[in-house]
Amino acid sequence: MKRRSPAWWLLTIPGLLAGCVSRNNMSALDPQGPVGKTQLNLIYLSTAIMAFVVIVVAVIYIYVVTRYRERPGDEKKGIPEQISGSKKLEILWTVIPVILLVILAVPTITTTFRLEERPDPAETIRVNVTGYQYWWAFKYPDLRVTTANEVHIPTGKKVEFNMTSQDVVHAFWVPSLGGKLDLNPGRNTRLVLQADRPGVYEGKCTELCGASHALMNFRVIAHRPADFDRWVASRQKPDSTAKTAEAREGKRLVGQNCIGCHAVRGAGFQVEGTTAPELTGFSQRTRVAGIMENNRKNVTDWLKNPQGLKPGNRMPAFDHLSEKQLRAIVKYLEDLK
Ligand code: CUA
Repeated sequence: MKRRSPAWWLLTIPGLLAGCVSRNNMSALDPQGPVGKTQLNLIYLSTAIMAFVVIVVAVIYIYVVTRYRERPGDEKKGIPEQISGSKKLEILWTVIPVILLVILAVPTITTTFRLEERPDPAETIRVNVTGYQYWWAFKYPDLRVTTANEVHIPTGKKVEFNMTSQDVVHAFWVPSLGGKLDLNPGRNTRLVLQADRPGVYEGKCTELCGASHALMNFRVIAHRPADFDRWVASRQKPDSTAKTAEAREGKRLVGQNCIGCHAVRGAGFQVEGTTAPELTGFSQRTRVAGIMENNRKNVTDWLKNPQGLKPGNRMPAFDHLSEKQLRAIVKYLEDLK
């Protein structure tokens, strides 16, 4: 049988690594804020220590294997001298790893405690994050604003995320800004992040939490401070009126079918559900259900078949409604600004 040369395998490595190229700001190796940069420095330090160990071990291994391999005539010399135990070597290969671990541990522990510090409340935006299967609720307790799956922040300012879960353990990770941290039911965890530049930073749930764990996405949208203030002002005065007769019919259907789980503030509904994403200002969101572009077709698809698009979530299919009724609901959602 013809053997393939190892070079053939080496050639596939760049191809596999090409899959790691960052799109949509999703690389921890390209940090966009101070927390991400600090964490990247730790990644570099631990990688350097690991590379050092791998290189030293590989060099010794190659040296020993070539220097002491069996050569013709060795069998006549008999068994080589047998040595058991060497205090010098034992001490050496205990002390070296201890030194390496101390070099790794000191910056890791000090950084961990530094990132845990609570920032000055006057200089901080507070956001309460609640994880649900499979979406994110973001509440700004000081600003009286609530969003879902998209969290807006100002640049150059620390943002304190106070996190908990409504069901199972989730984890919050925005690769280019920092993380990750678990959201535990019945407990609060705190993560402070900051973005240096305006932009959209993709976030992910990174704790296996059920069938649609891989679809539990969110976005951090960073604005210049003045733009952020404008966004807050617009969210504090949402427009929830239906503008056309079709949208008014949609509003009636939303009241019958959606309110109870969802809320639309300022629309005059008797109930404001909290177990599903708040729909206030729905047309201003960039995505539907955190996974698809927010457009008419995707909203309709979502209403018809939420289980097919995000298996295991708690939204029932609205296939009992006619096409006309679905269109009316979509029209009303488009009016929510
Ligand atoms: Cu939530 Cu994985």
